[in-house]
Amino acid sequence: VSAEPEIEIRQIQAGDKLTGLSLGSAQFTPLKTFLQKHAKTYHQRNLARTYGAFVPVGEARFKIVGYITLVCGEVVVDHGEAVPGVADDEVDYRYLQYPAVKIARLAVDDRVQGRGLASAFVDLALGIAKDTICPAVGCRFVVVDSKAAAVPFYERRGFTLLDTEANRRRPEPVMFVDLYKTSA
Ligand SMILES: CC(C)(COP(=O)(O)OP(=O)(O)OC[C@H]1O[C@@H](n2cnc3c(N)ncnc32)[C@H](O)[C@@H]1OP(=O)(O)O)[C@@H](O)C(=O)NCCC(=O)NCCS
Repeated sequence: VSAEPEIEIRQIQAGDKLTGLSLGSAQFTPLKTFLQKHAKTYHQRNLARTYGAFVPVGEARFKIVGYITLVCGEVVVDHGEAVPGVADDEVDYRYLQYPAVKIARLAVDDRVQGRGLASAFVDLALGIAKDTICPAVGCRFVVVDSKAAAVPFYERRGFTLLDTEANRRRPEPVMFVDLYKTSA
């Protein structure tokens, strides 16, 4: 998978150097810290899968310029609140959790932003959910806790804001793609 020919998107590996990501604002430091300090351990312990975008920087050396982290997740609804589109399924579903694949983290180096890398990562997540997870394990949604500034970005890629009172108040509102509707 790649947005540009020289950029390779693949799962991170034990030997990868994961430092040097530049995200500009200090508010994104946790995204940088996760990649540098925790992504490999989460990977090894089966807590998350992280895919990196790597550009070659010399003889067998690569620099990471973006990443996405995926985990198993769920959409939890309060009593009386409905997930749009699911309420009219006419299915007897008695649970307050809907199974999902979650985009736990997504970041692209500010020196290569605007070239479609994040879009390629989102496509990767949707593809994995539709083609790999969904056929093997019940999974209704792809979800993300979107940073407020990234809501339009996800909307343009087919995500819907979970339309509940509580969600609209959250600093990082839940957005989702309904895999039943998109695979129909
Ligand atoms: C949001 C982000 C991942 C986009 O990466 P990217 O590779 O530049 O994205 P693409 O080139 O695929 O698409 C560019 C889109 O991002 C939008 N964008 C650019 N900078 C952005 C920013 N700082 N925050 C939110 N959206 C941004 C552009 O408006 C453009 O939207 P459009 O194509 O729908 O018009 C990247 O700006 C980033 O890492 N921001 C900091 C961390 C963050 O907000 N992560 C999302 C966490 S949920």
